[in-house]
Amino acid sequence: STLGASAAERGGRYFGTAVAASRLGDSAYTTILNREFNQVTPENEMKIDATEPQQGQFSYGNADRIVQHARSRGMQVRGHTLAWHSQQPGWMQNMSGSALRSAMLNHVTQVATHFRGQVAWWDVVNEAFADGSSGARRDSNLQRTGNDWIEAAFRAADAADPNAQLCYNDYNIDNWSDAKTQAVYRMVQDFRSRGVPIDCVGLQSHFTGGSNYPSNYRTTLSSFAALGVDVHITELDIRNAPSDAYRNVTNDCLAVSRCRGITVWGIRDSDSWRSGESPLLFNGSGQKKAAYDAVLTALNNG
Ligand code: G3I
Repeated sequence: STLGASAAERGGRYFGTAVAASRLGDSAYTTILNREFNQVTPENEMKIDATEPQQGQFSYGNADRIVQHARSRGMQVRGHTLAWHSQQPGWMQNMSGSALRSAMLNHVTQVATHFRGQVAWWDVVNEAFADGSSGARRDSNLQRTGNDWIEAAFRAADAADPNAQLCYNDYNIDNWSDAKTQAVYRMVQDFRSRGVPIDCVGLQSHFTGGSNYPSNYRTTLSSFAALGVDVHITELDIRNAPSDAYRNVTNDCLAVSRCRGITVWGIRDSDSWRSGESPLLFNGSGQKKAAYDAVLTALNNG
């Protein structure tokens, strides 16, 4: 079987990958993509600098190519990402206050409208919390427009595409004991209690070692799920791709019914943003690694 087909057999989950438009002409790459995966996330092509390079001028060519490739093959698309402190175009980096707030909301509205009906899940807001023990919001030009910028972005996305599932996405929210995890949890709890339209939480899950993936990861997934949101593992990669860690992450998702799927952040090690760490399921030659077998076996053991 394949990763996507096996995940689909487990409660209709997906197994996906980040995709770069620049690699769609590489047949070794697309062979694996088309065979193994039933979900894609554009790695950079839907980010703010890519989709609105000049204020009010939108550019969707590369993102549309990925969406077309995916949807014509029955793969679901995760949109990444509508509002983020990073990869802002120059014009936005220098904005502040109400002008920035309006520009951000217009961006959310325009992009979510363009992809309406084509994107199953949106990472509406990405990486808005600080690392470390503070549990605070990350300082950014967006945060300085007011603490309600996140809910404003979710409301704009909901108005533009009422059928998309709207997610908050972050890294280092894997360990249930971490202040950052608890802070995101409290925000989601607050949004749910006040009717702010949030449907899901994405745990990026960029792990740096075999054992650094926390033993309470399953608790984190189930705790978010208990708030009434789905959970997604959105950018999985693990330094040196240890089989046991990949197997455990897969089993943790399978153990939580609201964990709807896993996306690895690239196909071959050579495609990875961390290519020096060989963190993915296929080597640079496109061969399956031991971690691939561990994931597939876990998916099939149900
Ligand atoms: O496309 C340009 C190219 O024209 C230019 O010549 C080249 C020179 O640096 O840069 C190219 O852009 C790079 C882009 O990737 C495409 O390859 C950027 O410099 C580089 O910064 C960018 O890195 C991306 C990174 O996000 C930026 O923040 C990675 O590919 C991408 O994997 C990574 O993904 C993020 C998620 O969005 C959020 N979570 C963390 C994750 C890893 O950092």
